[in-house]
Amino acid sequence: MTTTLTFPDGFIWGSATSSYQIEGAVDADGRSPSIWDTFCAVPGRIKDGSNGDVACDHYNRYRDDVALMKELGFDAYRFSIAWPRVIPGGVGPVNAAGLDFYDRLVDELLSAGIRPFPTLYHWDLPQVLEDRGGWVSRDTSFAFADYAEAVVGRLGDRVDSYATLNEPFVSADHGYVTGEHAPGRTSRAAGFAASHHLLLAHGLAGERIRAGAPDSRLAIVLNFTPIEPATDAAADIEIAHHRNHLENHWYADPITGRGYPADTAQYFEWDQHEVLDGDLEIISAPIDLLGINYYTREFASADNSFTLPEATRRNTMGWEIHPPSFGKLLRWINDRYHIPAFLITENGCPMPDDLRHEGRILDDDRIEFVRDHLEQVHGAIQEDVPIEGYLVWSMLDNFEWAWGYGPTFGIVEVNSHTLERIPKKSALWFSDVAANNRITVE
Ligand code: FCB
Repeated sequence: MTTTLTFPDGFIWGSATSSYQIEGAVDADGRSPSIWDTFCAVPGRIKDGSNGDVACDHYNRYRDDVALMKELGFDAYRFSIAWPRVIPGGVGPVNAAGLDFYDRLVDELLSAGIRPFPTLYHWDLPQVLEDRGGWVSRDTSFAFADYAEAVVGRLGDRVDSYATLNEPFVSADHGYVTGEHAPGRTSRAAGFAASHHLLLAHGLAGERIRAGAPDSRLAIVLNFTPIEPATDAAADIEIAHHRNHLENHWYADPITGRGYPADTAQYFEWDQHEVLDGDLEIISAPIDLLGINYYTREFASADNSFTLPEATRRNTMGWEIHPPSFGKLLRWINDRYHIPAFLITENGCPMPDDLRHEGRILDDDRIEFVRDHLEQVHGAIQEDVPIEGYLVWSMLDNFEWAWGYGPTFGIVEVNSHTLERIPKKSALWFSDVAANNRITVE
């Protein structure tokens, strides 16, 4: 038996990308290197030795990409703005030519009837700022506020909402603690300092966004990965508790006025000396919209011995596919945080993409993934979780950070030689979902 699930009128359908993952044109119009340009140049950091020099060449092809979104009938597009294009020195003069690109992109989207959802920081910190301490330095938070002001001064309230940061957990953790991401540092203390300065940057930039674009909404995009204890042993439950705090509470708690999870700060011996008087007030100024990124859940074991059972459904990066955790998470976020509106800003999967018919990738597995997760979104909306839209990650196959171009998240294939865009079967299916505002489930 099949059931049709209809979404509320006005539900927003669209896709998401980020600057370094798709733009290319790293030397164009005065852009300076970001920490990712530097990181990619270090042998062994990126699985396939690649970088974002060309990526999808979106910088030169943005008109075609917007036209494709229009053809697919999408309502919204989430992209990010590259700080090294706008203020190549990290601080100081604004590079008008860099801002021009986003100005043109926003105009192009608006004239196609697509709502722009920019994110100000999706991990491409100007390298010059990393050289002065990066996110471990408090100055970076203030530099970010100036950068935000410059962007808002140009784009103003033509944009629906400004998200300050994308996934600060990943910036701080992968960038400064595990070193898997740029800038590749490995210090728990640096990670805590970075997490606080990212949050302070969010708060300071928020003030400038409110002042410069009073008709746009203020947002932040957070990733959530529910953590389950691998067994019911006390040690596993304890580590799962702290990892949950780090991955799922660490940013949303201070933003909503709860401060940092105290027991976890103590567990990791973070003395919070970076937190100065008044910081938490700046950080907890109300936001209008929370962007939620969800991909998978994880298991925690005290001795790190846990591995997923053989039969587990996974994507090509090995992440478990577990839609019910998404529904549970959405209810939890709403019950705990009481934020006026939520937008699913990322959800999607890399799949083998090895089946074709007449040149088109037949990705029924991706369709199943998106459909199963949309079913969870629909269920949460039925229970009054105010989710206003769903943006699939990603519009295009792109540069997947430390994994390079191996994993393909796109609903649109990008030919690796010609860069030609070919919608996968999932793009056509998603276009149909957007047009009819509904999905059909078994
Ligand atoms: C998220 C990132 C995004 C993309 C997906 C797969 O953590 O925000 O850029 O890499 O994961």
